[in-house]
Amino acid sequence: MDDAGRSDQGGLHTSHRGITALLAWYGSNKRDLPWRLTRDPYAIWVSEAMLQQTQVATVLPYYLRWMARFPTVCSLAGADEQEALALWQGLGYYRRCRMLLSGARYVALHGLPGSALEWERVPGVGRYTACAISSIALGERVPVVDGNVERVFARLTGCFDLKPVLNKKAWEWAASLVPADRPGDFNQALMELGATVCRPLNPDCSLCQVSSYCKAYEVGRVAELPVRSPSPQTVPLSYHVWIPVCDGLYGVRQIPEGEWWENMWEFPRAVLESDLKEIVGEGEVLACGGLRHSVTHHRITLTVSRIQCVVKSSDLKWVTEEELLQLPMPSPQRKALALVRKAAGSLFAGI
Ligand code: ADE
Repeated sequence: MDDAGRSDQGGLHTSHRGITALLAWYGSNKRDLPWRLTRDPYAIWVSEAMLQQTQVATVLPYYLRWMARFPTVCSLAGADEQEALALWQGLGYYRRCRMLLSGARYVALHGLPGSALEWERVPGVGRYTACAISSIALGERVPVVDGNVERVFARLTGCFDLKPVLNKKAWEWAASLVPADRPGDFNQALMELGATVCRPLNPDCSLCQVSSYCKAYEVGRVAELPVRSPSPQTVPLSYHVWIPVCDGLYGVRQIPEGEWWENMWEFPRAVLESDLKEIVGEGEVLACGGLRHSVTHHRITLTVSRIQCVVKSSDLKWVTEEELLQLPMPSPQRKALALVRKAAGSLFAGI
């Protein structure tokens, strides 16, 4: 080990100074975020659920709207799933919203958990979220590892392992480092460092307060870490979407359970246009163009049309424009509606 405290474990491991430097950096550089002004476990829980797979800038307005509408766990527990999904609309990964709602109902019944282990018993709360809530809100000395921490760990320690091994080692490493005082700040400092300085591309090592403890920096291999697993092949999916209009109403249907976006609402969608005809019935079809949307490694192409229906199919729910705006809809469906508006001018022009 050298003066800076470097070792194969990453010098931070053995250096109190490194941890102090990281905490000091966090203290003066952390982003000003609303969930950092509170130690309410519910508020932290909401923020962590929203932040999974999603950037801070995207989450901010959703978080503020959510907390204004559901300020307490009990207010959420009593909520209607459709209303919660409508508030979540556009954030994606709607399972997080459903699980937050089931979790809130569980907590309203059983009381707020007092430790990470208890938090893990709440439906939908995994180890990461349990440890984040418990360290930040309750001050419990537990580590947190997300993608950012994994990357910081890989670089600091010079770990060239692939994902599952890297993740396991990162949890062990983080557990050995997390201090008894300010565990929540320490965990957030690691995540913040990963999000803002030790970025996946173009990390800014000149700003890093712990670069002198970093194995990858020492050997000039920061850009190579973490080692990326080969990404899964992109799966193309193509659908036709018909936006049915009749008597100033739109025809929509609820997405069945087990499908992506279950229980949300969509305009009829099918691989074959002939299947749409069966659902929607006769009418004049106006082709409005196509759009693309990616979900995980699926690349979805939608071919969008408006259909001016002769009669209102009973397989659909017919809603006014105002009602449509209240329904939770996946974002590609909202985009489809925008496309029809653009192509057709006013949707009801010429009816
Ligand atoms: N990403 C997810 N939760 C975070 C937090 N509390 N601080 C920084 N980055 C995060």
